Amino acid sequence: MSENAGTTGAPVDTLTPVLSAHWDQPRSWTLESYEATGGYEGLKQALGRTPDAIIETVKEAGLRGRGGAGFPTGMKWGFIPQDSPKPKYLVVNADEAEPGTCKDIPLMMASPHTLVEGIAIASYAIRANTAFIYVRGEVVHVIRRLQKAVQEAYLAGHLGKNIHGSGYDLDVIVHTGAGAYICGEETALLDSLEGRRGQPRLRPPFPAVAGLYAAPTVINNVESIASVPSIVRNGADWFTSMGTEKSAGMTLYSLSGHVRRPGQYEAPLGITLRELLDLAGGMREGAELKFWTPGGSSTPLLTAEHLDVPLDYESVSAAGSMLGTKALQIFDQTTSVVRCVLRWTEFYKHESCGKCTPCREGTWWLVQVLQRLERGEGQEGDIELLLDQCDNILGRAFCALGDGATSPITSAIKYFREEFEAGMHTPAWELFPYQASALFASEVTA
Ligand SMILES: Cc1cc2nc3c(=O)[nH]c(=O)nc-3n(C[C@H](O)[C@H](O)[C@H](O)COP(=O)(O)O)c2cc1C
Ligand code: SF4
Repeated sequence: MSENAGTTGAPVDTLTPVLSAHWDQPRSWTLESYEATGGYEGLKQALGRTPDAIIETVKEAGLRGRGGAGFPTGMKWGFIPQDSPKPKYLVVNADEAEPGTCKDIPLMMASPHTLVEGIAIASYAIRANTAFIYVRGEVVHVIRRLQKAVQEAYLAGHLGKNIHGSGYDLDVIVHTGAGAYICGEETALLDSLEGRRGQPRLRPPFPAVAGLYAAPTVINNVESIASVPSIVRNGADWFTSMGTEKSAGMTLYSLSGHVRRPGQYEAPLGITLRELLDLAGGMREGAELKFWTPGGSSTPLLTAEHLDVPLDYESVSAAGSMLGTKALQIFDQTTSVVRCVLRWTEFYKHESCGKCTPCREGTWWLVQVLQRLERGEGQEGDIELLLDQCDNILGRAFCALGDGATSPITSAIKYFREEFEAGMHTPAWELFPYQASALFASEVTA
């Protein structure tokens, strides 16, 4: 353990398993296993307090949304108009599709009751009697596990009518999406949940005022909601003793790519990639860090010069990127940045919902230019063309998918312009053979 400290003085370079504390217990996903480690104690405590007191605790804890934007969770709950005669809803965003992001699915597999307990507490706080978990349709194993956990929670009296004699009723519905990345965008998610084609809605009105079925709705990420039981059990001071002043608490960092031990690393906000890499056994044999994403493919790339940037919302933004989903995708010197950025751009083109022209048309054009650069057939002026195309999407698209599609391209050109220039004459696969960067032999296709 080094002596580095966050701005609150708390050590920032250690693992702090809270959400992942019991993932290695036998049958950790069962109610029996969850209750054996204090599960649902937070709910019982919460029901003994007022809903407003719970919102206040979450505000004091400084919990920020773990779905990407880092919006303060307690403040979001506080926006729900309590005088509205309409029902209130909690919707959990379990659509997890951002390339590199892989924390919510392991959390729901290993400990679905942490989420269910968080849902019960959050719903009580915002006075909702119905909550939905919107989970992507491909992950059938996760859907089954969630359904089973919800059933177990009903049978144990943690959900349903008059929960633990409190007079509070809550129904939880597991709803499966159909695997569209855009349905992770919260308003597209609401349209999809209502049975329509998932496309983002115009705001205002914001979901807190007119969300699901035009009623007040809170939408939170899986990890945000799963963080709530431990905050209620241990208090706001416990949570703020971890992390930094403005980015409190612990969080799941997902390391993938050219590292020895990829996986989930739960650590305080403010830890650095250098420290996380140490925990993950370092880069793979013979590898040097070339570039990485701090929070999924929609966040601007960083390089080896950013190894000591504290991974909290403020510091990553000051370094020119975003903490996003904390999906740290690590690439070594064998990786073609042009190829990598092209693959992400193909994803955005495919996932563009088509509602607005800059994104629908722009992502298509970006792919055309990047493809010829990958083939070594780029044309004079292609780099300026790419930057111009990005400029016509960024800030002009209807939702953040369009903006996010430009981030890897503009940041890659900023740090690795020479590789794009090389794309005018040499194919990327000659400069960076597939077999050198592949993690598994089966990945090598050319
Ligand atoms: C294209 C796109 C996809 C998104 N996908 C997800 C997702 O899969 N899960 C998620 O929690 N948030 C996703 N978000 C962010 C949500 O819109 C929203 O900010 C988040 O669910 C709010 O929860 P939080 O405050 O707990 O972070 C996405 C946003 C965009 C623009
Ligand atoms: S930016 Fe893309 S995904 Fe978002 S509304 Fe426009 S077309 Fe749809």
